[in-house]
Amino acid sequence: MPELLPVLEKEVIARRIDEIALQISSDYSDADLVIIGVLKGAFVFMADLIRRIQCDCMQIDFIRLASYGTKSASCGQIGLLKDIEIDIEGKDVLIVEDILDTGLTLAFLHQHLEKYNPRSVKTCVLIDKPERRKTKIQAEYTCHSVKEGFLVGYGLDYAERYRNLTGIFNLKL
Ligand code: IMP
Ligand code: MG
Repeated sequence: MPELLPVLEKEVIARRIDEIALQISSDYSDADLVIIGVLKGAFVFMADLIRRIQCDCMQIDFIRLASYGTKSASCGQIGLLKDIEIDIEGKDVLIVEDILDTGLTLAFLHQHLEKYNPRSVKTCVLIDKPERRKTKIQAEYTCHSVKEGFLVGYGLDYAERYRNLTGIFNLKL
């Protein structure tokens, strides 16, 4: 049986989202904000985050990428499964992503979204795993930094399972 070791409890996740949302609300107070969630892993985080950001006229969209590789490791090849549907030209885009690991996904996303001429593109990640980084990319907003392990729960999956867990766990197979 796989083992689930607790990494972040739901209260800890919620408290940090409150802080980050406050910061984002202040930074984007005069912005034409479009929040773009990266499916599927970011959907739980995004749902909690957007309800704490004070910006009445923000727009919400989703993008979905295909990262090729095994269930727990990407080989770095990324494709687009679903593009955004909102026109982001001249707008301030905030990408909401679950995990920043090698950085290849975010690098791809930045390159892709820049083609639509947004005014700015920044990123908010739930978890930064800095150890396996292959690009120089950094997120402007990071909720938590985690050193090692394959994480599941709170939207994060292993083979589409464990997304419904309220906290984040290290999955030991
Ligand atoms: P990157 O391109 O290596 O930065 O990969 C980021 C993507 O890999 C994230 O969007 C996640 O979907 C996935 N990923 C990386 N590490 C984990 C993990 O520990 N658990 C679940 N998904 C992960
Ligand atoms: Mg992802």
